[in-house]
Amino acid sequence: MCGIVGYLGKKNIKEILLSGLKELEYRGYDSAGIAVLEDGNFSIYKAVGKLVNLEEKTKDYESHGFAVGIGHTRWATHGKPTELNAHPHLGESSYVVHNGIIENYAQLKKELQDKGVVFLSQTDTEVIVHQFEKNLKLLKNSFDAFSKTVGELQGAYAILLVTKSEPDTIFFAKQGSPMLIGVDEQNDSYFASSDTPLIGQCNSVNYFEDGDFGYVTPKKLMIFSANGTQRDAKFVPLSQNKLSAQKDGFRFFMEKEIYEQSSVISDTLMGRLSESEVIFEELNENLFYGISEIKFCACGTSYHSAMSAFYLFERYAKVKTSLEVASEFRYRNPIMSKDTLFVVISQSGETADTLETLKMAKKAGLKTLVICNVDNSSMVRLADAAILTRAGIEKGVASTKAFATQVTVFWMLSLYVAKIRNSLSGTDIANQIALLREVPKHTKVTEVLHEKMKRLSKRYLHGHGFFFIGRDIFYPLALEGALKLKEISYLHAEGYPAGEMKHGPIALADPELFTIALLPQHLHYEKTKSNVEELSARDSTICVISSEEFDKADDFVQISSCKHYMLEFYEMMIVVQLLSLEISVRLGNDVDMPRNLAKSVTVE
Ligand code: AGP
Repeated sequence: MCGIVGYLGKKNIKEILLSGLKELEYRGYDSAGIAVLEDGNFSIYKAVGKLVNLEEKTKDYESHGFAVGIGHTRWATHGKPTELNAHPHLGESSYVVHNGIIENYAQLKKELQDKGVVFLSQTDTEVIVHQFEKNLKLLKNSFDAFSKTVGELQGAYAILLVTKSEPDTIFFAKQGSPMLIGVDEQNDSYFASSDTPLIGQCNSVNYFEDGDFGYVTPKKLMIFSANGTQRDAKFVPLSQNKLSAQKDGFRFFMEKEIYEQSSVISDTLMGRLSESEVIFEELNENLFYGISEIKFCACGTSYHSAMSAFYLFERYAKVKTSLEVASEFRYRNPIMSKDTLFVVISQSGETADTLETLKMAKKAGLKTLVICNVDNSSMVRLADAAILTRAGIEKGVASTKAFATQVTVFWMLSLYVAKIRNSLSGTDIANQIALLREVPKHTKVTEVLHEKMKRLSKRYLHGHGFFFIGRDIFYPLALEGALKLKEISYLHAEGYPAGEMKHGPIALADPELFTIALLPQHLHYEKTKSNVEELSARDSTICVISSEEFDKADDFVQISSCKHYMLEFYEMMIVVQLLSLEISVRLGNDVDMPRNLAKSVTVE
């Protein structure tokens, strides 16, 4: 989830690129850079950290006339946030910026290195510019070389490339990652990952479609579709409201992030699934050698995703698994043995309680792993190994896509460990991988469902409390649904194991007690159904989430018929997220910044 910008014209190109990147910082900012080509010479600037560091480095640079330039703000997916890994990336006489993941980069990189190409960075992006220059030497024509290069890439990308061989041209390509072009009254051209940077610069824009590639010069814009046929640009008016543009037209960042889950999960999976195995380039198998127990430790929503891992690892990896709330673990004087792998989970990588438990584990000599969304965070720097969830920046305080990508990483990791421990057959692993590939389809938000949740939410604005209930891996999802509701509606809610209701909580059952029951078809359906019937018999108000109608429910939210309970898990996750969102909206709360909460709790 990076941000890219480009400009072609005679205006102050540094100002245009940097202000454009500033508008994209919400997409990611662990490093940034710009490359400007003027009078046949490149000026290149890169900096780690926030954009102000890049502004400092460029303060003495100014362009003087016509120039082409590209810029990038990075959210690391391959390679640490360093200046070498910061974009733009250099070939010999060309620079490239890229948003997305080149799935076949390792193969391309090896082929290029075998031909003597020297790589400076750890990124997947760098292969693009070297492949282009290889093709340029072969074809002697820049556009043909660019076109051939684009055809050789697999994965998701939004690319801008500038080269000394065509000093008045910007080449572009779009597949799976957003990008648009705008023009102003002087017919200068502007590129960006989203429309925010173009507001105030351009009045109309063309949103590129998947497969589009081409180039722009001061005289013409040439767009070609994936099949190589040229097509006309489709310029549309550009909205002039920056904040709504950052929210891409959604009412809240949280709403946008719920809708983003399908695409960011595709990023989470990208490059990590073959037909028969899960691949984590960032891991060395020996991290799991000599391990008799895996202990997960986290807070809040990350604790809930860790609990889902608890079920997946014991079921698939057949390894003893334990679970800790970080704020409890750190003061419990716990017994820790060196044959335990200590795994911390954190969206921010900075949560104080979780970070302290990681330090405790390191001090006790345990091997450590972090599942995190922010590269270069404290936990990523401290753990022996790190897996990035690739969710992109999560602005909503109430976590959604971070949770979804954490669960996805855990599902993959449980299969990775199952292969090491030979606890699942190759066929079983392949079948699970096929299911993983379906997750993006099962996390798309439909207008029908969202409208249903908007209508339903009006019935759940009061009452003396909510129970979210589920069994097995749906218990952590029940906990997560309850936390979402508490966080943004300020109504009391509890997540509870469905089988536990009869051991006390059912005493609360009456029409004012709202129960949200997670009723998957493929996991303990009959047992959970009887728990719901116990509540219904005592007149509790029940909303059932399931793929099959349930006649004793007061409200019913239907999910699609799925092949497997994990796909039901993701569909039900969307439902409970939308329910809390729409209840909060009706109560007039600040969905993105709920009272009393912070996005990252870096204090005890
Ligand atoms: C999630 O909706 C909450 N905002 C909160 O529980 C959060 O998950 C918790 O503070 C842990 O944060 P982390 O994942 O950044 O460590």
